[in-house]
Amino acid sequence: MDISVQQGELAQVSCDLLVVNLFAGVTAPAGGTGAVDAALGGWISKAIAEQDFKGKLNSTLLLDTHGAIPATRVLLVGLGESAKFGAEQIRQASSAAIKAAKKVKAKTVVTILHGAGIAGLPAESCAQAVAEGALLGGYSFAKYKSKNEDVPVEKLIIVEHDAAKIADIEKGIYLGTTIATAVNTTRDLANEPPNVVTPQFLAEYARQMSAELGLQCTIWEGEQLVAERMNCLLAVGRASANPPCFIRVDYSPESASKRVALVGKGLCYDSGGLSLKPAEHMRHMKTDMAGAASVLGALSVIARLKPGVAVSAFLPICENMVSGTSYKVDDVLTARNGVTIEIDNTDAEGRLVLADALSVAAEGGFDEIIDVATLTGGCMVALARRWTGIMGNNQPLIDAISAAGNHVGERMWNLPLDEEIREMLDSDIADIKNSGTREASASQGGVFLQEFVGDTPWAHLDIAGTSMLDKDRAYEPKGCTGVPVRTLVAYVMGW
Ligand code: BES
Ligand code: MN
Ligand code: ZN
Repeated sequence: MDISVQQGELAQVSCDLLVVNLFAGVTAPAGGTGAVDAALGGWISKAIAEQDFKGKLNSTLLLDTHGAIPATRVLLVGLGESAKFGAEQIRQASSAAIKAAKKVKAKTVVTILHGAGIAGLPAESCAQAVAEGALLGGYSFAKYKSKNEDVPVEKLIIVEHDAAKIADIEKGIYLGTTIATAVNTTRDLANEPPNVVTPQFLAEYARQMSAELGLQCTIWEGEQLVAERMNCLLAVGRASANPPCFIRVDYSPESASKRVALVGKGLCYDSGGLSLKPAEHMRHMKTDMAGAASVLGALSVIARLKPGVAVSAFLPICENMVSGTSYKVDDVLTARNGVTIEIDNTDAEGRLVLADALSVAAEGGFDEIIDVATLTGGCMVALARRWTGIMGNNQPLIDAISAAGNHVGERMWNLPLDEEIREMLDSDIADIKNSGTREASASQGGVFLQEFVGDTPWAHLDIAGTSMLDKDRAYEPKGCTGVPVRTLVAYVMGW
């Protein structure tokens, strides 16, 4: 979908679908919607009254213009209550409009700039949200369908009558397009089946992405992983015919105000290993690399927007499989940083590969470490598919990331880490065991990871629930969501 801005009057442009809007409780449309209503001789006001359209957020009403204006159809989209209005509502309304446009197979869509001049929202932010909502809501993963019935919108044009706002709108479109495209690429990576997205595939993907964006990419494989003492990653990955790898990608601006390490869990498949998952829990475990995918997605945006913050990605990549070479329950592993780990359950593999990756990051003297992982089913039980569980060793960092998440509509909830939870992982024969009872399982994952970050301020994002949906939600589709790409970008950019 190509998104652009054009100066002009909404009622005068020709297109397949013209999108205008209405706040809840408004019966006489004003602004751009009012101008279109006037050009249509009051049809919109009439339809609002006759069809009882109440302006509820994301509700839509489709009108045929019968040639009264150049647009073939008009779509009225509800913005909800004006008191609750903001960028999130713009994203949702824009997504609802694109979904309705796809339904009527509209190719060229013209839209009003939702939110312009309201509640102090700058035109740039409005345009960014319109672009994000349209691209995120228009997403579908249909490449394996022999008959693809998805008809994408080809062009979305924001029409604005005020010439002074065009440059700001263009900037917003660029930001929104850059971010949403990366989120959709992240969704693609995690939606791809595991016979396609193997560790080798991800390594090649990272190499290519880095070459295109001028990032530095280093990959450890085979003997190099042994030499680098990536013992936990090697143990977890050992049973698979597709060998593990460790990906590092660096964005290094000339002068950086701080250095941030992003660590992402990259299990291309999690069968559970010898502690095999029951069949129904194994379903969708192709998405167990969503953490790594979202870190790559965030980095691709950062490489384009070029903030004065250095960002490095550390991605342990492997498959947790079953064979004669599987690592076993009762094994004791020595992580890269020397901590010994008794294996209580081979299905608690994410924290093991992250142990080595966090150790590498901790050695790097970063100002902050943020890890992203589909770590525990318990996090999803606690927080549903709406809140990412966030925990760590530094409250200001947790608060800042949570604020960035709330700002972009990716909600987070702070879970506790403390001594009592750490004791749940006490081992009789090693420094720590990799799983305990069912209590506070997300927090147990967190305290385990804490052993590997040293003194570096660190936050852990458990996206087991939020990385994947079982049904569509506003601009997030069923399947992989791309959470938390937008949070990571907003945080690093300081938005
Ligand atoms: N990848 C899973 C967590 C998961 C579950 C992600 C459901 C998405 C949806 C992780 O490796 C895992 O198996 N965790 C175990 C840990 C337990 C054995 C301590 C879990 O949560 O049950
Ligand atoms: Mn597992
Ligand atoms: Zn896993």
